[in-house]
Amino acid sequence: MQKTYKKLIKSDKLNTSYPIRREDWLKFKSERDIKFDEKEICYYIHIPFCKSKCKFCEYVKYLKPEKSLEDKYVDILIKDIKRFSETHKNIVLKGLDIGGGTPTCLEYGNLERLLNFLKDFISKTTTAEDFEPSIESTFFTIDEEKIKLIVNSGIKRISFGLQTVNKKFLKRNSRPNPTLERMKDVLSMCKKNGIAKVNIDLMYGLEKQNKKDLISAIKTIAILKPQQVTLYEFRTNILNINEFKSKKQLFNEYYYLYKSLLKLGYKGIFGQNTFSIYDDLGLSSYIRNRMINNISYKGFGISAQSKSREGVTYNIGKSGKTLEECIEKGSFDFEDSYILPKEEMLAKYIAISGYCGRFNLMIMEDILGENPLDVYKEQFEFLLSKKLIYIKDNFIFFTKKGFVHYGAILSMFYPSYTNDFDK
Ligand SMILES: C[S@@+](CC[C@H](N)C(=O)[O-])C[C@H]1O[C@@H](n2cnc3c(N)ncnc32)[C@H](O)[C@@H]1O
Ligand code: SF4
Repeated sequence: MQKTYKKLIKSDKLNTSYPIRREDWLKFKSERDIKFDEKEICYYIHIPFCKSKCKFCEYVKYLKPEKSLEDKYVDILIKDIKRFSETHKNIVLKGLDIGGGTPTCLEYGNLERLLNFLKDFISKTTTAEDFEPSIESTFFTIDEEKIKLIVNSGIKRISFGLQTVNKKFLKRNSRPNPTLERMKDVLSMCKKNGIAKVNIDLMYGLEKQNKKDLISAIKTIAILKPQQVTLYEFRTNILNINEFKSKKQLFNEYYYLYKSLLKLGYKGIFGQNTFSIYDDLGLSSYIRNRMINNISYKGFGISAQSKSREGVTYNIGKSGKTLEECIEKGSFDFEDSYILPKEEMLAKYIAISGYCGRFNLMIMEDILGENPLDVYKEQFEFLLSKKLIYIKDNFIFFTKKGFVHYGAILSMFYPSYTNDFDK
């Protein structure tokens, strides 16, 4: 185990993404789509459009297209959601996130069409008690009219990306830089119109980002006082560049942000990326149920991912098709399906919940049908004896020492990588 761990910590790319390359799952590729037999499910709706493309971003996105293409995109999205929902009538919806890209860069009419459709759909669907739909936005693609549309549709959480306040970095990366006044205005518009939770995303590990930048970012959070803050470590998995920082530097940046957010009154355990003034883990109910409770999710739109109890599917667009090619197909559903053995389902669960700084032994047992402490005896003995993890209330958490190489720890449960290394 020591040898495997030493090899894993040398890899830059190991983090909460799994698998890093879909080729790792080639042997599990299926001709048929994965089935969703489970009652409880979350929906994710991907709007892949942005006003400009930030160079640091690793999500699937396209420059906002001409109106006719955007109209078609929303038409297909609504058709796909209708079709899936009609064949899965008895579901209990645990969460619904509209993400991107930038959903609020849709034309007003298209945002209205999509949100009205969702409002009607949700009103006819059983929703869980903690159901809390959410939408992503930027400070430049939102206005009071759009906020009113969002509130009217039942969405009470908006997430904005701030990333960093380093002006030079933002300029170099084609990322517009909102003034503090603009951000304050947007937050007060949200409050005035009844948005209960605003989340702000901050990034760390960025090129030339230094302590001064982190201090300024925290000062901005102290002024804006969003209900939630999410930290994103800069990932380069699908960007063709190397990471800029060592694992130790990344740890130090995270640790500074973590301590500062706690000082500001946010709650969050060490190793977690999300912070909140409430006891909601700083997550939308879609992400919370996906990460903490291993609830299945169905993704709609270009490149969206879905996971059921039997496998994972990627929608059209992951393999670099143009927007026009995707739209021509008339549906974004299911380009690539993988029916997975329980070890791979477990790895996927660990990768997803690692983002939240913990994974649960009961869920592991549910996936494996066996006691995970027996199945992964060697891994647990090694990680516990080296004080890289600890177990509390059936959850596994990272210690401070372990968090430096959290990607390597998670990867010890990823069969595709450990098998390679053990050869
Ligand atoms: C879907 S994205 C963006 C939402 C919105 N378009 C924005 O820019 O604010 C959600 C978050 O992912 C993070 N992100 C983008 N690129 C990243 C990367 N390469 N590594 C880690 N996080 C990234 C950013 O913090 C961003 O706010
Ligand atoms: S960070 Fe947001 S705005 Fe920038 S390219 Fe990515 S999704 Fe678009």
